[in-house]
Amino acid sequence: MVQQPELITDPMRAAEILRSGGLIAFPTETVYGLGVDASNEQAVKRLFAAKGRPGNNPLIVHVADRDQVQLAAADVSDEADKLLARFAPGPITVVLPKLSTISKLVTAGLDTVGVRIPAHEAARDMLAAAARPIAAPSANKSGRPSCTTTESVLEDFGNEIDGILIGAASDIGLESTEVDCTRRPPKLLRTGGISLSQLRSVVPDLLGPTQSLEPGENSPGRLHPHYQPQAGVIVVDDMVNLASNASAAVLCLTTPWLAERFGWVRVFRDSRDYAQHFYESLREVDRRGLATVYCENVMHGELHEALRDRLARAAEPRANR
Ligand code: TXA
Ligand code: MG
Repeated sequence: MVQQPELITDPMRAAEILRSGGLIAFPTETVYGLGVDASNEQAVKRLFAAKGRPGNNPLIVHVADRDQVQLAAADVSDEADKLLARFAPGPITVVLPKLSTISKLVTAGLDTVGVRIPAHEAARDMLAAAARPIAAPSANKSGRPSCTTTESVLEDFGNEIDGILIGAASDIGLESTEVDCTRRPPKLLRTGGISLSQLRSVVPDLLGPTQSLEPGENSPGRLHPHYQPQAGVIVVDDMVNLASNASAAVLCLTTPWLAERFGWVRVFRDSRDYAQHFYESLREVDRRGLATVYCENVMHGELHEALRDRLARAAEPRANR
C-alpha cells in the first residue's frame, strides 16, 4: 500500500517531523508552504526534487517571530526593520544578507536570503516549536498554480511528503510581497499581500516594479514559468464580447450571465474574493478537463496589483503546448 502523508492537527508534531529532516506542508495566510529544516541539506535536496524546482530558484526561509530573523539573516537594515515592524507577522518577505548556517542550496548560491514571518496561527505555532529556520517554497509542483487548500496539496504531492499540517485555509490566496532590502533604496521584487503604497507608507523611496529592474537584471523568481494550469489562460479586459465556448471556463467579476455559454463560470464578489480563490479556481478548471480559461482582468480594488501580476504570469506563452 502506498504510504499517505500524515494529516497533522498538532503543530508540535509537525515541528518534530521538520526537526528530524521531514517534509511538511503547512497552511499560511498567503498560500500553503512545503517546509524543511533550512540547515539540513539532505532535506533541502529532497524538497527541490519533490517540487521539481530548478536549483537556481532560491527558497524563502520562514521563522516564528522577529527575534528569530537572526537565525537566517546576518544583518537587518533599518528599512527591513521598519517593514517587519509594520507588516510582520504577515504577507511580506524581506531579502537580507544571509547567515552562513543557511545552506547555499536554499539560497541557490546567493549570499542573500528571503525571510518571512507568517501570520497564520498554526504555522507560527509550528515554527515556534521547530525553533529553527524553515525553508519553504509554495507547496505546489514547480510551475503549477499555488495551493490554498489541503486537497490541492495532496493532489500535487500525495505520498512524496511526510505530513500536512491541517489549519484554516489561506485567506489572502496570493503569495507574500517580496522586497530586496540588501540595497538602498529597497526594491519590490514581487507584488503580493502588501501593496506598493502600503510599503511606501513606511519606506517612501522604495522602488516599484517598473523602476526596479535594471537592463540585464532579473529577479530569480522571474526566470521560470509560474502559476500555470494545464488549461490555456487568456486574460480579458472587456468580457462583454466574449464568444461562447463550451470547452472554456470563465473567471469573472462582472458578467454572471455568461454562465450558460461556457463549460464553467465562477463569479467573484470583488478583487479580494478573486485573489483568495484564484489558484483553486485554476485547478478546478483542470479537474473539469476544460482546455481554456478566460480570466477577467482586475483594474482596482484590494490585492489587484498582485492579482494582475499572477494573471499575466499564468497567461505567459509556454513552450510545450
Ligand atoms: O507567501 C509566500 O511567500 C509563500 C508562503 C509559503 O510563504 N512562499 C512562496 O515561496 O511563495 P516561493 O518559493 O513559491 O516563491 C519565493 C520567491 C521566488 O520567486 C524566489 O525566486 C524568491 O522568492 N526568492 C527567494 N529567495 C530570494 C533571494 N534571496 N533573492 C531574491 N529572490 C528570492
Ligand atoms: Mg511558488
